[in-house]
Amino acid sequence: MITRIGVAVVGCGMIGQFHLEAMKNLPEFEVIGVWDANPSLAAEVAQKWNIRPFCSFEEIINDQKVGMVDICLPSGLHGKYGVEAAKAGKHVMVEKPIDITIEAAKQLVDACKSSEVFLATILQNRFSPSVAKVKDALNKDVLGRLLYGEATIKWYRPKEYYTARLSRGTLQYDGGGALMNQGIHTIDLLLWFMGDVKHTRSLVKTSLHPIELEDLGVAIVEFESGAIGTIIGSTAMKPGFPESIELYGEKGSIALEAGRIIRWKVDGTEEGPHLDGVPVGSGSSDPGGIPIENHIAQFRAVAQAILANEQPPVSGEEAIKPLQLILDIYHMSGK
Ligand SMILES: NC(=O)c1ccc[n+]([C@@H]2O[C@H](COP(=O)([O-])OP(=O)(O)OC[C@H]3O[C@@H](n4cnc5c(N)ncnc54)[C@H](O)[C@@H]3O)[C@@H](O)[C@H]2O)c1
Repeated sequence: MITRIGVAVVGCGMIGQFHLEAMKNLPEFEVIGVWDANPSLAAEVAQKWNIRPFCSFEEIINDQKVGMVDICLPSGLHGKYGVEAAKAGKHVMVEKPIDITIEAAKQLVDACKSSEVFLATILQNRFSPSVAKVKDALNKDVLGRLLYGEATIKWYRPKEYYTARLSRGTLQYDGGGALMNQGIHTIDLLLWFMGDVKHTRSLVKTSLHPIELEDLGVAIVEFESGAIGTIIGSTAMKPGFPESIELYGEKGSIALEAGRIIRWKVDGTEEGPHLDGVPVGSGSSDPGGIPIENHIAQFRAVAQAILANEQPPVSGEEAIKPLQLILDIYHMSGK
């Protein structure tokens, strides 16, 4: 029986290095090495972690010790590299968004199925204990019939964030701006809590930054259930504010801010014991400000599922839902 999964991290930028930091806490993963289009970065990161700097992607997929390829590349490359890894018989873990087009995302899902390998997509905020508690409460009908859900991501990124990497803020690599890149976590949670969407109306703009994509977008949605939702996503709201989700149902309202429960006003329930005292991190003004605990929790769940030969969370099909909604928001705004 396999007790550890050999991992190669592909992409040594901000999130690739964050993954290495998170994985050091998990004995289920043995990080074999890293690869990046920038060989000196790969060498530097490999030296820091005392792992192998792979010279090419082919080297990774031909390495018998690598059981899973962890894709931390710009979003528009996720599907392409994921498909190659799956065809070589490697499990695939891929950062959000699963890709930037539905076609590429579905190709990745199909490639993993036909090669009989697992696909896990990173949407780590689902693994925050407070988010899981809200999900559990909704499953137990604590709010009754849901009426309205609101996702608010008023974040800020300075100009340097977009100029630091050629890929950032570009249609080719990011596929979308504030909604696709930053807002997707909160949009995913809104869908997870409220259910699938029936209709979307939207207005999306590049309001502040000199980028190809939106830095401000607003959408109104109607869920399959008949409930209504609103979404605002931005990277132009200086200085950046913690993201939030507000849920309103027949029996009251629950709200989360940056992964922490800040409201639990439910009929017949005392609010105090449900509130979280300690603030959790947010990427509101710094991409590195996200809390590492959620990544660690998702990695642990992924590793345990794969070792038990079960589908790890979050499946490709689940990850396509927020991608589809964001693409619909762009489409309805004429983008
Ligand atoms: N889950 C989260 O909270 C979170 C946070 C940040 C980023 N992300 C996701 O992680 C991914 C990477 O984002 P990032 O901020 O780390 O980007 P980044 O630009 O910092 O890093 C990307 C790395 O990929 C390398 N690269 C680019 N093209 C390549 C290619 N063709 N082959 C090999 N390497 C290549 C670059 O040299 C760079 O080192 C994106 O999809 C992003 O959406 C997720």
